[in-house]
Amino acid sequence: MKILVTGGTGYIGSHTVVELLNENFEVVIADNLSNSNAEVVDKIEEITAKKVHFEKTDLSCPTATAELFQKHGGFDGVIHFAAFKAVGESVKEPLKYYHNNIFSLINLMNEMEKYKTQFLVFSSSCTVYGQPEELPVTENAAIQKALSPYGNTKQIAEEIITDYCLSNPNFNAILLRYFNPIGAHPSAKIGELPIGVPQNLIPYITQTAIGKREKLSVFGNDYSTPDGTCIRDYIHVVDLAQAHLAAMRRIAEQKNEENIETFNIGTGNGFSVLEIINSFEKVSNQKLPYEFAPRREGDIEKVWANTTLANEKLKWKAKLSLDEMLLSAWNWEKNINKNNE
Ligand code: UFG
Repeated sequence: MKILVTGGTGYIGSHTVVELLNENFEVVIADNLSNSNAEVVDKIEEITAKKVHFEKTDLSCPTATAELFQKHGGFDGVIHFAAFKAVGESVKEPLKYYHNNIFSLINLMNEMEKYKTQFLVFSSSCTVYGQPEELPVTENAAIQKALSPYGNTKQIAEEIITDYCLSNPNFNAILLRYFNPIGAHPSAKIGELPIGVPQNLIPYITQTAIGKREKLSVFGNDYSTPDGTCIRDYIHVVDLAQAHLAAMRRIAEQKNEENIETFNIGTGNGFSVLEIINSFEKVSNQKLPYEFAPRREGDIEKVWANTTLANEKLKWKAKLSLDEMLLSAWNWEKNINKNNE
């Protein structure tokens, strides 16, 4: 089976490509390298001892997308990761986000229609739930008005795919709503590579521990949570990558009950920022300098997933513990710095 992985040199994409190659899928990566680099392709090949085709393609350009499909004679399925994802930047440059994230999807789906591609697995986000009224949050929870243009692109993309599936009963899509992906491949050859100052918690922690940042600011300690800090459902990126294979299997085996289905992809456990710091200090055997700072605008107080649907229907479950996730993130940080010395 030939799978197109858009954004395949990015953080989640690269880990998913590794899992696909390990299962002997033929993989073509399309990425414009706007937030990643081509060396990731070599690392993927080192880890798997398999070949992967790489195309530097800008999917927001219809001609480039058409050429990609033409060159490969279409694909059996597409896993679509390619998107801009910085919440703060999206507020400052909304058009950049709408242009890239929405046009890419439409161009891709146009070509998928032409080439009769069987399925799409789409990267969505728990951001669509905002602050849910009930926790753990299920897939049926109300979608809340997006807090950023980034979040809105995820909601709009879900709607576009849903409408398309309604009008095309032969097309299949699975929307995966990711919770907070963290950690790195056990080989420490691929992982998250934030450009500039990290906006997300785990890379900020590992960069502080390695000495690149002075101290972590914990955004808010007066939330209505047991220790006052925000709670998230952190999931290891390899567990998350494997959920994509489970989704593809469900479609390939025609076990999907509707031609569009949505699944929460998390562990089902919520951890506070302070719990993350404690676990990190334990696995890395170091003290992490941090201070409490004001709340960050737009942060959700607490969210974690009800994963029953994914566990039962996708026959998939996250396996790695929080300590294992943080240890892999720490090993990755140490490895990047060793290579840069
Ligand atoms: N945090 C800090 N200090 C930091 C960075 C983060 O205290 O320096 C806290 C945040 O306030 C939050 C938690 O750590 O409570 C997690 O923050 P992240 O930025 O790591 O993750 P978010 O939950 O804010 O965002 C993630 C993804 C988004 C996605 C969102 C969906 O990065 O792409 O989940 O809820 F939209």
